Amino acid sequence: MTGAPNSGSAIHVDALSKRYGRTLALDGVSFDVGDNELFALLGPNGAGKTTLMHILCTILRPDSGVALIGGFDVVKQPLAARRRLGIVFQEPSLDDRLTVHENLNLHGLVFGVPRKLRRQRIEEMLALVELTEWADKRARTLSSGMKRRLEIARALIHDSEIMLLDEPTAGLDAQTRDRIWSYIGRLRNERQITVLVTTHYIEEVEGFDRVCVVDHGKVLALDTPEALKRDCGQQLLRIVPKGEDNRQEILTRYADRLAGEAGESILLTSDDAFVEALLAEYGGRIRSLAIEVPSLETVFLSLTGRELRDQAAGARESTLAFGKRGGEHTR
Ligand SMILES: Nc1ncnc2c1ncn2[C@@H]1O[C@H](COP(=O)(O)OP(=O)(O)OP(=O)(O)O)[C@@H](O)[C@H]1O
Ligand SMILES: [Mg+2]
Repeated sequence: MTGAPNSGSAIHVDALSKRYGRTLALDGVSFDVGDNELFALLGPNGAGKTTLMHILCTILRPDSGVALIGGFDVVKQPLAARRRLGIVFQEPSLDDRLTVHENLNLHGLVFGVPRKLRRQRIEEMLALVELTEWADKRARTLSSGMKRRLEIARALIHDSEIMLLDEPTAGLDAQTRDRIWSYIGRLRNERQITVLVTTHYIEEVEGFDRVCVVDHGKVLALDTPEALKRDCGQQLLRIVPKGEDNRQEILTRYADRLAGEAGESILLTSDDAFVEALLAEYGGRIRSLAIEVPSLETVFLSLTGRELRDQAAGARESTLAFGKRGGEHTR
């Protein structure tokens, strides 16, 4: 069944919930993504990002709530919704035995793209992701960054208007990540597509139109990066105490202000009066002190409390709280 679209947004999500056994992966998520918008879903491991993506791309049914893609209901009109989507899954999904060109061509065939248009799109997309010279190589011989670029190209061989990318840059080196963002930016401008991306790299979402912060299956905040920093950002104080005894004492004394720990440094929520009070009491016992202005990292901290789960796990490439500065992060 394909009816007329019934929502003005490119993506409309209303009160979506999904449970896996005892885990409530999505807990009443609602948001809209406008036409041609660059929209990020930002959240730590297990936040529910992939679950939401799978519902949007029609491979998973929600328990309740509604999701519309270009106005088409993902449960009631999955084919119409699917046709409008270009998808890059979190898990690799290329056919390794096929060549780069064959992967793209097969996708075009499945989506019924006429031959001439298919050829033109394949050429265009290969050029965009700089894989033209690799067209006849088997996908298994590509590096992981090249495979990701191929998956992005593949998502746009048919007439997709809305792109869903689940952690498109996870695990890639900084240069490849930059290239991928530049392709996505160009696509957004040239093909006027809408882009919904999930990521746990905070520094990547600075240039997005809007950012939706999710955790434990819930939307915690949704706004432009600037507005999030203005409304939810918090000034933090990063201090490195002299020695373990002082460290423990400060941790105990200011437990209610503790926003995080990284290596030797302690992050405390702060304001000007607090800095003065801290210096008066502990000035001689602190090796270094730096004020961190509100950033998306501090936004995340203040929204999720002391939820540095990625950092505690110690294995993720980018910790949510200590992304770029400081150098202490456990990359
Ligand atoms: N098939 C499944 N069966 C049971 N539990 C699941 C399943 N898929 C996801 N979950 C659970 O649902 C929650 C949300 O998982 P989801 O994969 O959507 O999170 P995510 O935000 O994509 O995380 P990541 O950043 O690690 O990719 C987690 O607690 C996860 O363990
Ligand atoms: Mg995921």
